[in-house]
Amino acid sequence: MVDPRPIVRDLPAYRPGRNPADLAREIGVDRAVKLASNEVAFPPLPAVVQALTAAAGETNRYPDNGAVVLTRALADRYGVDPGQVATGCGAVTLCQELAQAYNDPGSSIAFAWRSFEMYPLLARVAAARAIQVPLVPGRPGGPADTHDLDGLLAAIDDSTRLVFVCNPNNPTGTAVRRTALERFLDAVPQQTLVVLDEAYREFVTDPDVPDGIELLRGRPNVAVLRTFSKAWGLAGLRVGYLIADDPAVAESVRKTHVPFSVSTLAQAAAVAALASEAEVRFRCAAVVAERDRLTAALRNRGLDVADSQANFVWLPLGEETAGFAAALEARAVITRPFAGEGVRITVGSPEEDDVFLAALDDVRSGTAVL
Ligand SMILES: Cc1ncc(COP(=O)(O)O)c(C=O)c1O
Repeated sequence: MVDPRPIVRDLPAYRPGRNPADLAREIGVDRAVKLASNEVAFPPLPAVVQALTAAAGETNRYPDNGAVVLTRALADRYGVDPGQVATGCGAVTLCQELAQAYNDPGSSIAFAWRSFEMYPLLARVAAARAIQVPLVPGRPGGPADTHDLDGLLAAIDDSTRLVFVCNPNNPTGTAVRRTALERFLDAVPQQTLVVLDEAYREFVTDPDVPDGIELLRGRPNVAVLRTFSKAWGLAGLRVGYLIADDPAVAESVRKTHVPFSVSTLAQAAAVAALASEAEVRFRCAAVVAERDRLTAALRNRGLDVADSQANFVWLPLGEETAGFAAALEARAVITRPFAGEGVRITVGSPEEDDVFLAALDDVRSGTAVL
């Protein structure tokens, strides 16, 4: 047997989330609701479906490896030069490509914890040290749910090549504000690249949560990651992008890019989605209204929920987490538990969220959980 690298051998095996159709069959109901992956409940945009149909006839050819049309559309949209943009097979692949571009073995990657679960994994695969800085309470007496930017700054050392700041943070939905983030960016050493992971940016409603693409201007050690998977409804097609002040950052990521990994269909769909921004904004406003309704419904039930700036809410249930998520699954609702910490619930359609709330009430009435 050929052994993989010890680091890879010791990685946890991928565990796919529950499939709603399988769960429904298993528990003998017509339909299960999945509120686990931070997708939007809307179907693909009409313009996307049209673009996919048109592009389907070109799939005997390789994609444009430079994603020239998409890159130009992104550059125009954000008022940057195409050289400052890199596209990737989802933002997650851009995270990996950044680690490959910037981290030698023995270097480090800093990030808050708990945050996006890929950060520690990509550090391990890069043989880099993961510097995890615990979240701190966002409200007096509240649970640890927001970034400790001073702690993150203090944890950066000479070996730190990348710092991820997930804003809003997955899975807590909390966000760092302008003054604190600007102070942090101004203080991070120039040899460390700050990656503002803004996968959920389109759901931000607090005007004091800064737009990373505005913040990066004039800051050569800052890059922003965004994705078409969430607000733009293209999770199944895999497109993300990076924008950096310094074109050398985008260039480095392009060098570690897996060739042709942004498919022809994905590129065509992303261009069409960008051209439908008004419809996307309209959909995001609906998600935000539903987020607020869900948050209020949970608070009315006496549960502690932080203000979310994303398309999910976080229930910090600690040791109750696994039991609660299992009880919801038994009632045909799939959420995303982080054992011992909390449950992340994606904002679904109003009907899906009502199914979730009814299941929650049922769990709470019948058991000692919560
Ligand atoms: C914070 C954050 N960054 C990046 C991603 C990756 O998104 P994608 O690879 O679908 O573009 C996710 C997905 O869940 C995320 O939550």
